[in-house]
Amino acid sequence: MVSLSSSLFPLFFLLLSAASALTQEQFFQCLSLNSKIPIPQATAFFTPKNISSFTAVLSSTAQNLRYLLPSVPKPEFVFVPVHESHVQAAVICSKKLGVHLRVRSGGHDYEGLSYVSEFEFPFFILDLAKLRSINVDIQDNSAWIQAGATIGEVYYRISEKSQRHGFPAGLCTSLGVGGHITGGAYGSMMRKYGLGADNVVDARIVDVNGRILDRKAMGEDHFWAIRGGGGGSFGIILWWKIKLVPVPPTVTVFTVTKNLTQGATKILYKWQQIADKIDENLFIRVIIQPASAGAKGGRTITTSYNALFLGGANKLLQIMQKSFPELGLTRKDCTETSWIKSVLYIAGYPNGTSPEILLQGKSLFKNYFKAKSDFVKNPIPETALEGLWKRLLKEQSPLTIWNPYGGKMSRFAESEIPFPHRNGTLFKIQWLSFWQEPKENAKPHMEWIRRLYNYMGPYVSGNPREAYVNYRDLDLGMNRNKNVSYIRASVWGSKYFKDNFSRLVRVKTKVDPDNFFRHEQSIPPLPHAQ
Ligand SMILES: Cc1cc2nc3c(=O)[nH]c(=O)nc-3n(C[C@H](O)[C@H](O)[C@H](O)COP(=O)(O)OP(=O)(O)OC[C@H]3O[C@@H](n4cnc5c(N)ncnc54)[C@H](O)[C@@H]3O)c2cc1C
Ligand SMILES: *[C@@H]1O[C@H](CO)[C@@H](O)[C@H](O)[C@H]1NC(C)=O
Ligand SMILES: *[C@@H]1O[C@H](CO)[C@@H](O)[C@H](O)[C@H]1NC(C)=O
Ligand SMILES: *[C@@H]1O[C@H](CO)[C@@H](O)[C@H](O)[C@H]1NC(C)=O
Ligand SMILES: *[C@@H]1O[C@H](CO)[C@@H](O)[C@H](O)[C@H]1NC(C)=O
Ligand SMILES: *[C@@H]1O[C@H](CO)[C@@H](O)[C@H](O)[C@H]1NC(C)=O
Ligand SMILES: *[C@@H]1O[C@H](CO)[C@@H](O)[C@H](O)[C@H]1NC(C)=O
Repeated sequence: MVSLSSSLFPLFFLLLSAASALTQEQFFQCLSLNSKIPIPQATAFFTPKNISSFTAVLSSTAQNLRYLLPSVPKPEFVFVPVHESHVQAAVICSKKLGVHLRVRSGGHDYEGLSYVSEFEFPFFILDLAKLRSINVDIQDNSAWIQAGATIGEVYYRISEKSQRHGFPAGLCTSLGVGGHITGGAYGSMMRKYGLGADNVVDARIVDVNGRILDRKAMGEDHFWAIRGGGGGSFGIILWWKIKLVPVPPTVTVFTVTKNLTQGATKILYKWQQIADKIDENLFIRVIIQPASAGAKGGRTITTSYNALFLGGANKLLQIMQKSFPELGLTRKDCTETSWIKSVLYIAGYPNGTSPEILLQGKSLFKNYFKAKSDFVKNPIPETALEGLWKRLLKEQSPLTIWNPYGGKMSRFAESEIPFPHRNGTLFKIQWLSFWQEPKENAKPHMEWIRRLYNYMGPYVSGNPREAYVNYRDLDLGMNRNKNVSYIRASVWGSKYFKDNFSRLVRVKTKVDPDNFFRHEQSIPPLPHAQ
């Protein structure tokens, strides 16, 4: 394209947009022919011809603003199905017309994989935002939840039927259950009940041939792969059937913050020794960031211990006194509340927010960010923590969240589902850098986080250096076209899945040998036997 002379350029552009219009028209016709019920074009099919509605739907749930910048490739159109047969038609027509498909549920992918394709054109977005039914069956202790629902809506619908039931998945309530649960789904009840994906008992998906399959029809290998193998590789999740878990009528939450002059480093060192071993009804994560040091100027590091205890405050205080007195938790720090209100608290809603807000399914914030993850097997020494503080103090808006493991998480075998980070993991770290301005150069932030990642290498898991698939990180490597190199993919595949990667590849080869469901980090099939 660089060689096009400027006089040819307008003609080229005209031809290009004419081709796009043709593709859009043809695609819509194909969808209509292959759907059981009619598609309401005006509210289901968005093209750049109406740029305001197209932009609105494209950006609606896109969480990482980095992937909405003008320089980033845009889809030919966005299709928002209102019926399952529309999803089947989208798969059939994508294959027939050669328009690459990206599926989006809640839009929280860290690398924008649900709404941006860096290497395949043309592409479109299949946005499941209008497929968001939730049917809770307390008698059966289960619920069928549709892919486009947010996890916050799921929590709300459960609590609406029973205050004694809950579900152990994400802390952030705007996550879409389609992408979230297929990548694992951890949250504040993980030490008691495991991941969201550990508590899935059935599913309905659209496969590569446009068929709808449940657990029985897809078979145990395929059902294994979708519970943790990561989104966009094994079909389109339409529904999950989840198993509900018991929650007590009263739970307790607290947030206690310590800065460097209050002994934050020593306290965090102690936390690393107890966080995975303490009573499994207790989940204490640590949110770490620089903060202004007050009148004297400068900055300090704050470590906020943000916790959920499945029980009352008195019991909690006894446990803390025995295992973690260094934090100095007092009764005044503790709030007894219901499980559903604890969800709002942990998600960061202001005190007093009504749970009905969860029905809006809205994200609390959006920004430009880059993130990475690590798993820790041995406590990080205090000297290394001091080096970490120095690095955090150099960056504009860094954040790191440390998330305890142990309890039920350690009692699942590594190959039970594709998610392999189990016994022996003390905690997971998420590294983040945020920025607010589109014009701001991302480069220094990207470089800062990569340097930090190098610095932390010796203190975290190695061979492989493990990472969480739901925190997609394209720095770990990526597929560059449809012909995926197995060797290249195994680099990041082993970080996300350890040895389970090879089983995922076997399943992929069986259920999607031509690699229809693909993206920059999808699971590759083995090449066809010639
Ligand atoms: C602010 C924030 C907070 C988070 N908090 C947590 C947390 O507490 N716990 C946790 O475990 N994770 C958390 N995450 C990570 C989150 O689980 C992942 O980003 C997850 O993939 C989001 O799912 P989604 O449907 O919202 O995203 P999407 O961007 O829609 O999808 C993510 C991936 O899955 C694919 N996909 C989407 N829908 C489907 C479908 N129906 N079938 C098959 N593939 C699909 C997409 O193509 C994409 O590859 C958080 C992320 C953010 C941005
Ligand atoms: C564009 O879409 C918006 C929202 O759907 C609608 O109100 C408007 O009439 C459309 N404009 C045109 C020119 O079709
Ligand atoms: C640390 O916190 C204490 C108590 O809130 C405060 O008085 C002190 O100024 C803080 N120190 C720094 C360096 O920010
Ligand atoms: C929220 O507000 C209620 C009532 O004002 C109060 O009792 C409770 O302690 C507050 N909770 C938190 C976590 O601040
Ligand atoms: C976890 O690993 C430790 C150390 O290897 C072992 O002692 C323990 O029995 C394991 N726990 C489970 C539940 O497998
Ligand atoms: C992928 O491999 C096939 C067969 O080897 C080849 O024909 C095709 O051109 C390749 N496609 C890309 C995008 O590299
Ligand atoms: C899955 O991964 C685990 C942990 O890496 C490994 O022990 C197991 O053998 C793998 N299972 C299969 C079927 O590949």
